[in-house]
Amino acid sequence: MSDAPSPPAGERPIVVAANRLPVMRTEEGWAPSPGGLVRALLPMLRATGGTWVGWTGDFDDAAEPFTVDDVDLHPVPISAKEVELYYEGFSNDGLWPLYHDALRESTYDSEQWDAYVAVNERFAITLANIAPPGAMVWIHDYQLQLVPQMLRKQRTDVTIGFFLHIPFPPLELFSRLPWRDEVIEGLLGCDLIGFQRPMGAANFISCSRQFLDVDEFDRVIENVDHRTHVGVFPISIDVAEVEETAAGRATRQRTSQIRTRLGDPEVVLLGVDRLDYTKGIGLRLRAFAALLESGELDPRRHVLVQVATPTREAVEHYQDERREIERLVGAINGRYSSIGLPVVHYLYQTLPFDELIALYRAGDVMLVTPFRDGMNLVAKEYSAAHIDGDGVLVLSEFAGAADELTDAVLVNPHDDLALQQAIVTAVEMHRHERRTRMAALRDQIRKSDVQGWADRFLAALAAAGGTSP
Ligand code: F6P
Repeated sequence: MSDAPSPPAGERPIVVAANRLPVMRTEEGWAPSPGGLVRALLPMLRATGGTWVGWTGDFDDAAEPFTVDDVDLHPVPISAKEVELYYEGFSNDGLWPLYHDALRESTYDSEQWDAYVAVNERFAITLANIAPPGAMVWIHDYQLQLVPQMLRKQRTDVTIGFFLHIPFPPLELFSRLPWRDEVIEGLLGCDLIGFQRPMGAANFISCSRQFLDVDEFDRVIENVDHRTHVGVFPISIDVAEVEETAAGRATRQRTSQIRTRLGDPEVVLLGVDRLDYTKGIGLRLRAFAALLESGELDPRRHVLVQVATPTREAVEHYQDERREIERLVGAINGRYSSIGLPVVHYLYQTLPFDELIALYRAGDVMLVTPFRDGMNLVAKEYSAAHIDGDGVLVLSEFAGAADELTDAVLVNPHDDLALQQAIVTAVEMHRHERRTRMAALRDQIRKSDVQGWADRFLAALAAAGGTSP
């Protein structure tokens, strides 16, 4: 515990805490962790310098601190039982569906809750032990919502920020959570809480008012001993890294090789997602099948590549979703493919970054059709990778990215006919319109890359830290 005076903002050390470290331990050694969170945060920490506290993805891994890409990594051990209860259970079978429009039934289990509390406490203790005096501690995502309050009780000198990468649900859904008061109290330990969209911020404020009866004015919540500022900070990507990779010779060669391997179709449609039921992969496959059936798409001219990255495989809802996706892929290929020319190319794999960028470049039409998504960085990566200025993005209105990427073909994916129509619009779009829209998308993404996102959040955090009574 330290009560030393804080150094001025800008020179203050940064400590990040997220459930996962940016690399995870696998049988073959260290590999990049899945998900957009890691891809967004790593370049930010590389640029600002700092420490990252999180889990290695392995059981009971009490590895010593180590360094990757100039970022100091500080592992927090999580046992096999805790992975089952805290990660697969409370975080991904309780909070995840609840925070995504209750698309699946949540499990509310007090043993899981206890494990969530215990792991959050371990993160808070680790942060309290390692954060330098006056540090800015930035905690990420729904797995760690109790950490802010737990840390505040141990360290009054640090400034505490939290960013929620996924949606925050409306009052009528959040009310279902048996530990709703505790979660709000945990988050209110922050000086600043950031959300992806204005709706998330508004939902959080109404839940805080309802359950903890706090006073709020102009997105500032009054607590007994400090203020919590609430803000909106849509996350983004490392645009320069994507553009550089996309422009590389190896990528260009790989892109043309991919198109050749696909049989040089007229239009390559593409989907890239973690295999999650929130992503609307099944909807997309069904819309594609309906268009093949009606003859609006032709299996000799139009192919779909669907990359589905394995994720949370021990959780039953994910197993069900995988079965359904693979059944659909099999059914579509069985009906419309010909020898050597499948109409759906399905990869249940984690692809390396370079391969992903080559694939984005090979995709004429990108289908991003989640039922609900905090942001969706794939939509931004696809647009940034299209340095040729061509390509069409079909984007669900229910992805956070839809607020900014208004030149995409926006669609309500719950409306199957509208989704089919959006795909046809994208496939048939005139070159001039494609280029105009892509230029606007790329301008938008360049204006707000991940470094800008981090800078804005950290500046607001530094300012918020100084405003408490
Ligand atoms: O963005 C949501 C999120 O759950 C992140 O917290 C996480 O890094 C990513 O998706 C991947 O999920 P998981 O860590 O459960 O594999």
